[in-house]
This record gives sequence, C-alpha cells and structure tokens, in this order.
Amino acid sequence: MYRHVEFYAGDPILSLVEVYNRDTRAEKVNLGIGIYFDSEGKMPVLESVGRVEHDLATSPRPCPYLPMEGLAAYRSAVQNLLFGASHPALTEGRIATIQTLGGSGALKVGADFLHRWFPEAKAYVSDPTWDNHKGIFEGAGFEVGTYPYYDPATVGVKFDEMTAFFDSLPENSVLILHPCCHNPTGVDLSPEQWDTVLEIIRKRKLIPFMDIAYQGFGGDLDSDAYAIRKAAEMGLPLFVSNSFSKNLSLYGERVGGLSAVCPSKEEADIVFGQFKFTVRRIYSSPAAHGAYVAAEVMNTPELFALWQSEVYAMRDRIRAMRQGLYDVLAAKVPGRNFDYFIKQRGMFSYTGLTVEQVHRLRDEFAVYLLDSGRMCVAGLNPANIEYVANAFAEVLK
Ligand code: LMR
Repeated sequence: MYRHVEFYAGDPILSLVEVYNRDTRAEKVNLGIGIYFDSEGKMPVLESVGRVEHDLATSPRPCPYLPMEGLAAYRSAVQNLLFGASHPALTEGRIATIQTLGGSGALKVGADFLHRWFPEAKAYVSDPTWDNHKGIFEGAGFEVGTYPYYDPATVGVKFDEMTAFFDSLPENSVLILHPCCHNPTGVDLSPEQWDTVLEIIRKRKLIPFMDIAYQGFGGDLDSDAYAIRKAAEMGLPLFVSNSFSKNLSLYGERVGGLSAVCPSKEEADIVFGQFKFTVRRIYSSPAAHGAYVAAEVMNTPELFALWQSEVYAMRDRIRAMRQGLYDVLAAKVPGRNFDYFIKQRGMFSYTGLTVEQVHRLRDEFAVYLLDSGRMCVAGLNPANIEYVANAFAEVLK
C-alpha cells in the first residue's frame, strides 16, 4: 500500500535532538537546537510569563475558537513590537498582521500567499540559512535559490557579491532575510549595509521577507528591528514572520505572527482576507493560550518592562558565554583567531569546525553541534563551558 511513499530521513536539527536524548553519557552537552537554556542548563520560565500563567490558572475561563486571524490584542502587540507603536504604516492601517503557529506557520502562510499571487516569482535564501526556510518555501511550490551571504575567509558577509546578486534579480523575486541574529552564522548586516540592500530591493522591485526569531538577543528590541522599520518606512512590500519561541521562552505554545506592509489600507485589507483564507484551509484558527500570555505581557506596561529586562539578561548571558569560550580557546589554541565568537550575534555561532571535527566532538566528548558547525551558544553554562572549550581545543589540535 505505502511502498511507493518516499522515506523521510528526518530533519537535521530535530533528529539531532533525538540522538542527544538517547545519549546516556552524563557529560553530554546540547549545543545543537536553538533553544535558550539558563546558567543551570534549564529552559527558563520567564517571570513575566509566569505571572500571567498564574493569573490564568487561578481564574479558569472558557476557551472559544479564536478567529482565523488570531487574537486582536496579540496582533496589535506584535505590530507595536516589530514596527514601533507610532510607525506611520501602522497608524495608517497599512499593515496586515495575523497570529500564526510560530515563525514556521508565518513563513508557510506567507509563502503560500506569495506563490499563489506571484506564481512566476522565485524565492532566495541566504547561503547558508536555517534549513527549514528552503523546505517551507519549496513546500509552498516555490523554486528556491540561494544568495551569497557568509564568507568563511573573513567570518563576515560577502557583501559585494550579495548586493551584486540582488541587483541582477527580476522584479518580484522573494528574498528571505534575517533582520538580526542570523541563523545559522550569527553574522549580521550593519545598519548601513541594510540601507544599501533595501535601496537595491526598492530599485529592483523585489519582495523582502524578513524572518525575525531572536528580537532582543542581538542589540536590543528596537535596534534588532532596524531593517524591518526602515523597509516599512521606505514603503517596500515587506513581509515579516516573527516568533516568540525564544524571547518569551514559549517554544511549545507556537506563538508567532505574519505581517505584510502594504501600499494602502485597502490593499492591506485584501491581503488580510487572503491570509485568513489560507489559515482556514490549513488549520482554521490558531491556538489561544500562548497568545493570551504573550498579549498580556506585551500590553501591560509593568510586565513589558519586566520582560524586556529578562530578554536582555538572556542576551547578556549568551554574550558572557561567548567571551568565556573565547578566553579558554585563545589560551589553549594559540595562533588561531577566535575573535568571531565574540563578534557574532544572537544564539548561534558558526564555529568553523569541519564535519569531521563536529563528529569527533559528538562521538568522543558527547558535545552536540550541527554538522554545519553551528553551535547554539545558549547551551553553554558555567558548569560545562570549560569542558566544551577543552573538547574544542582537543579536536582543533
Ligand atoms: C533552530 O534553528 O535550531 C531552531 O529554530 C529550532 C528549529 O525549529 O529548527
């Protein structure tokens, strides 16, 4: 019956979690999946979130279906956070935003919409990118290509090559961009570089699709949204997928959003209707609980201030771990430059380790990184950093 069905070899990130979970070695360290763990190696329950959860638990209430587009209070909170509450595109009603099943759900609904209404367009992801970008856009029917991005020689961006590539693309090509904390490399564009890129996008009439999953982990909540706000200000046909998995530590609640910045309120209403149409045909409406929690945190000034300080504490802990790893490695492996560990931003570091070195780390030391050499720095803590640094030093010898 099912012999003709293709075998699924698994996802490179999620399958590694399964291998890690099966590993019985006590010293094992998970630096694979992008999850923030605290200094004790635990997934945090943020205090801002916990307060709302407590209130919800002590006053149970009915759980009706949310509308197709999600919770209104949540959607406006997403808009304020991404664009800034007084952004003209927002006050003019030109942004269509729906609540989605995490950032992945937003990418899927956005990709379905774009492929349906711009069927000739191709999509382009950075080389490299988060694996699922390609998967989701291909799943929506797109032909997906790559654009030059990471330069191993400089541990920076191939900026000239990238901009020349963008400058050669036909109208309506879709560019999947990372506004901050690039996944997997941790290498970001500067505001000046964004200005150049956005100008090319405007000139070539391309469609920027910005995926932001780590807002607040790079610079701060506002500066991490620089490219988003600038693109909206320039009147570009911007799509944004956002996720609260990491910065609210609400992974399993699947709280995300999809926004489209449109030339007019009328067009925003049309796009909004199509988003609802797409949602109805896939899953009808999103789940309610995580959206209630996120909306309460975002819309209550005291909780928002608390949350902001919690996000910055996570950011600072990641930075401290970067510095810690750098210090040990610089001392143990002289003659090799590890500056990049400090310069990269967000949860991830492209370590430059080869696949053989990554496998040695896994086999000999139970230290798990992705085969690409991507490390989730947020898996480091004071109890394992020395061990991990020594293991790195060993495979780098
Ligand atoms: C990651 O990149 O590890 C995270 O975004 C988790 C995922 O779903 O891949």
